[in-house]
Amino acid sequence: MVKEKALIEFKNIVKTYGKGDAKTYALNGVDLSIKESEFVAIMGASGSGKSTAMNMIGCLDNPSSGQYLFNDINVEKLNRNQMALIRRNYIGFVFQSFNLLGRTSALENVELPLVYRKIPAAKRRELAFEALKKVGLESVVHHAPSQLSGGQQQRVAIARAIVTNPLILLADEPTGNLDSIKSIEIMNLLKELNEESKITIIMVTHEEDMAQYANRIVYFRDGHISDSLKKGFK
Ligand SMILES: Nc1ncnc2c1ncn2[C@@H]1O[C@H](COP(=O)(O)OP(=O)(O)OP(=O)(O)O)[C@@H](O)[C@H]1O
Ligand SMILES: [Mg+2]
Repeated sequence: MVKEKALIEFKNIVKTYGKGDAKTYALNGVDLSIKESEFVAIMGASGSGKSTAMNMIGCLDNPSSGQYLFNDINVEKLNRNQMALIRRNYIGFVFQSFNLLGRTSALENVELPLVYRKIPAAKRRELAFEALKKVGLESVVHHAPSQLSGGQQQRVAIARAIVTNPLILLADEPTGNLDSIKSIEIMNLLKELNEESKITIIMVTHEEDMAQYANRIVYFRDGHISDSLKKGFK
């Protein structure tokens, strides 16, 4: 059941880069509202503003103008440290390249965000193990990334993103480096996390097949939203 509260609210968000003749509008007046427990896919041509919007949702970047409410907090009024706190406490990130530390085990990779939160070692282990179990990797927790397949590495990255129990999971092309079978496994995992743990997911994808796993597809074109499609459950 999708709850009614808006978690993400963009009001006329504009993001420009450069000045004068070189000024580009990466986002040009975006209104977007995402509710708790939604699973939203973002699609659109290269350069249409998808990653810019994701970076803003993830409090990695500030708008040039407009209003961004995250869980009722005015993000556009926050400084860098305050934005970092929101990221650390509420947001999990998954990228196309898995961004794992090569020489450390899956368990240690997943523990890392808990180290930053100063959680005691024994508790860290326990939470990291639980997260790895959730993504189906309990049998390989001591393996290093080089001993895991691409799909397994992305699962470790997802475990690392959810171990802090974030409000939202942001995934920018999470299946971009995976073959179609591994991609489907990752999409089924994201769908399961969304349905069972009620975590809000926002995912950028270039593939219509992957977008079908979401409840809604938002299409970007030239820095604005050109269409938004609500879907039945797959
Ligand atoms: N740091 C930056 N400096 C200057 N221009 C930028 C910067 N980041 C993005 N842009 C421009 O903003 C526009 C939107 O870029 P963005 O990365 O959001 O596109 P995208 O939809 O994610 O594309 P892709 O599908 O290729 O990842 C592009 O025209 C891009 O060149
Ligand atoms: Mg991008």
